[in-house]
Amino acid sequence: MKLLHIDASPRTVRSVTRKLSAVFVSALRLSHTDLQVTHRDVGHNPPPFISDAWIGAAFAQGDFEDPSMKGALHHSDELASELLTCDALLIASPMHNFHVSASLKAWIDQVVRTDMTFKITEEGPVPLVRGKKALVVTSRGGFVAGTAYDFQEPYLRTILGFIGITDVTFIHAEGVNSSDQDRDDAITTASVKLVALAETW
Ligand SMILES: Cc1cc2nc3c(=O)[nH]c(=O)nc-3n(C[C@H](O)[C@H](O)[C@H](O)COP(=O)(O)O)c2cc1C
Repeated sequence: MKLLHIDASPRTVRSVTRKLSAVFVSALRLSHTDLQVTHRDVGHNPPPFISDAWIGAAFAQGDFEDPSMKGALHHSDELASELLTCDALLIASPMHNFHVSASLKAWIDQVVRTDMTFKITEEGPVPLVRGKKALVVTSRGGFVAGTAYDFQEPYLRTILGFIGITDVTFIHAEGVNSSDQDRDDAITTASVKLVALAETW
């Protein structure tokens, strides 16, 4: 199994999502001895925001007026290729202001690209990413799952589905900012779920 592992927290040792994604990868190594992991740390090395040149090049459909346009897609080519060649996707996503972190949104903007991960047809948009499953591990300071404040899970389900990834599991660690005890409890509860999932994933 080829796993693309995205960490999107700007934090390091205090990051809950980094801890949880590491727990899952360790557990997955036990059930998939052939596991190959590509680790993309967008939390510490965010992809650039898309630019005027990026948009022009992405919609030029390979018909570049000048060669420098191709350069604008350099990061997108690399990141989209990692996504297209993996079997499974693990996203560790901290909730920031009720949504995904800006660095994860920058990654999404680089990989959701016409004629690369979706295409527009007369019948409407068609996804181009096929046969992959995804696990999204989130952490939230409060308890927002299933409420109107959760723009993170609905957004990720929609954008992953738009490019063709519809087999998506979410595991949330919630209430992590109430106290150290609550944080530890949330990490333990989520870790138990992750280890169980890794056995059958
Ligand atoms: C800038 C920022 C914004 C946050 N916004 C929210 C929020 O909207 N709702 C929430 O429940 N927690 C919020 N939190 C708390 C984080 O979701 C929580 O600390 C989580 O553990 C972050 O993941 P990480 O530990 O992997 O960085 C925020 C934290 C930061 C630093």
